[in-house]
Amino acid sequence: MSTTETTTDVQAGEANEHGYRTFTLGGFTFARDEHFVHVDWPTGSHVMSADIFMKALMRDVAWNFFYGIVNFDSVIGTMNHYGNVDLFAGRYNDAYRKAELDHQENFPEGQIKATFEAILADWTNEGYDPFAAPQETGSPFGVKHGTNTEAITRTRVTAERMVGVPGDEPLRSDETGHPVNRMFADVGQTEPTIEAEPGFEDEVAAFNLFAYLSRSDVTWNPSIVSACKDSLYCPTTEEFILPVIHGNDRVEWFVQLSDEITWKVEDRETGSPRATVTMKAGDVAAMPADIRHQGYSPKRSMLLVWENGSPAIPELIAKGEAPAIPIEF
Ligand code: PHB
Ligand code: FE
Repeated sequence: MSTTETTTDVQAGEANEHGYRTFTLGGFTFARDEHFVHVDWPTGSHVMSADIFMKALMRDVAWNFFYGIVNFDSVIGTMNHYGNVDLFAGRYNDAYRKAELDHQENFPEGQIKATFEAILADWTNEGYDPFAAPQETGSPFGVKHGTNTEAITRTRVTAERMVGVPGDEPLRSDETGHPVNRMFADVGQTEPTIEAEPGFEDEVAAFNLFAYLSRSDVTWNPSIVSACKDSLYCPTTEEFILPVIHGNDRVEWFVQLSDEITWKVEDRETGSPRATVTMKAGDVAAMPADIRHQGYSPKRSMLLVWENGSPAIPELIAKGEAPAIPIEF
């Protein structure tokens, strides 16, 4: 494996015969045609469906490289070191490792972010929303036609204290452009009644999380709805397949709030299977820090992801001072 440090601005070529620009980041080249994305690096190359690539790229950009590893598929992905980011090919794939075909390079976060944003903007066609459920968006395929800036520049919900608290993230409504999703038509929309003691009216807040989630226009996009120091509630609505295979760098707790999701859980380093976890409404799971996982949601469902956002955790785990599995039975 080779590792190099690179610092340059966004490098983009002219549009190719399909209308898409080709981008270079260090030793990696990204090109697309009507159906596929082609990634090249010094020791190999890879082809992916444009659909899968765009949905993964959208999340990697919007989540600022997330916690730990974002695998676009079993070959390509990023590893977040919070300030700098590895871009890799085959690094977490046992066969590539054994054949010594894997490659990774480290970039300042700003440089890889700028390049990924430029690819996302150039390769997203009019009418296609990489955050939307398959039945709620157009097609990513074909020669380049138009753009969809609105869809790819949504700001991520990140409450400072809690959604609905004055000055914090607002509630969703028809008026804010968040109609109830077709799959959540039966979800009650009444807000809680708050009976505060006199003098405390401004200090007590509550909101209907189910109603809030029923109005989400995106899938597989955890947003911070409440924060208590490093304890972050990141619920999300899911439909079809999580477009990344997430390699955790800390424990995550999952609470299945509605419907059902099946998780394929694999070893984080090699990708070898570890478990299949089917979570039904009300189920709780602790996803270990040394796994990667991908969820399958046959119907639109609500999932609460509970994160400890402390930047110290990966190092504490490496030193054996925080557990990779938070509970023993
Ligand atoms: C996760 O990897 O833990 C994850 C990512 C996105 C989601 C849900 C879970 O929507
Ligand atoms: Fe995860």
